[in-house]
Amino acid sequence: MDVLVVPTAADVGTCAADLVAARIAEEPRTVLGVATGSSPVGIYRELARRRAGGSLELGHLTCFALDEYVGLAPGHPRSYAAYLEREIARSWGLPSSQVRVPEAFRPDLDAAAEEYEQAIAAAGGIDLQILGIGTNGHIGFNEPISSLSSRTRVAALSAQTRADNARFFDRPDAVPTHCLTQGLGTILEARQVLLVAQGRRKAAAVAAAVEGPVAARCPASVLQFHPRATFVLDEAAAGELTPGTCRRTVPDRGDGLPPGSPSPAS
Ligand code: GLP
Repeated sequence: MDVLVVPTAADVGTCAADLVAARIAEEPRTVLGVATGSSPVGIYRELARRRAGGSLELGHLTCFALDEYVGLAPGHPRSYAAYLEREIARSWGLPSSQVRVPEAFRPDLDAAAEEYEQAIAAAGGIDLQILGIGTNGHIGFNEPISSLSSRTRVAALSAQTRADNARFFDRPDAVPTHCLTQGLGTILEARQVLLVAQGRRKAAAVAAAVEGPVAARCPASVLQFHPRATFVLDEAAAGELTPGTCRRTVPDRGDGLPPGSPSPAS
């Protein structure tokens, strides 16, 4: 695991955007897994800015959302489909058909989940999966005690997650109770994983994910099994990592590692 610590929340967006842009420069037809929530917005807007400036072409990407709420009508402004239409399809100049989202409005959710897995496989698998992390350590909507080898499926949201996400809805009880989410096994199959976290509220979950133990109590800890996982954190989100271990600062502030080198823990 590679853990990069940058000074501010804004720096998380630019540092992570650098990593995503480098991947896209190598392969314009990259298949990108895209998280929603507030954490990755800085990445998406930075990439849109580079595209607008003419330095980055994004039109050949295929994107797969991590998850979607069950029970919201198609086009609901708080659906993740609507979020990705705003933040990615429109601002990256991608046809909506290149931004796939689990079809959580369908009556047969098990079939929708199965077809989503098949669509990812048919696209050749996810090259780079962008992730946020919940305050309880969830990734996607894989809440604590999710199977570490789970696949895309219907899952219930924890009370903690519903409370955390209430800020996006008019009323706390308007937050859906269920979702369709890629599983932890699905996420682990991405060729590269990039998790971003900002702020003190994420510090405990980040420390549990990075330093372990690998446990269903912190679903993000399963990323310790991933051969190519990078965490980009601001100082606050890194605040509960054991000092002096498992990380490097960007820009390099004399932790003994030249910029670009993997951290001791990778
Ligand atoms: C949400 C999403 C996750 C996201 C996480 C953190 O509910 N399902 O994909 O990474 O919770 O959200 P935020 O970035 O808003 O803190």
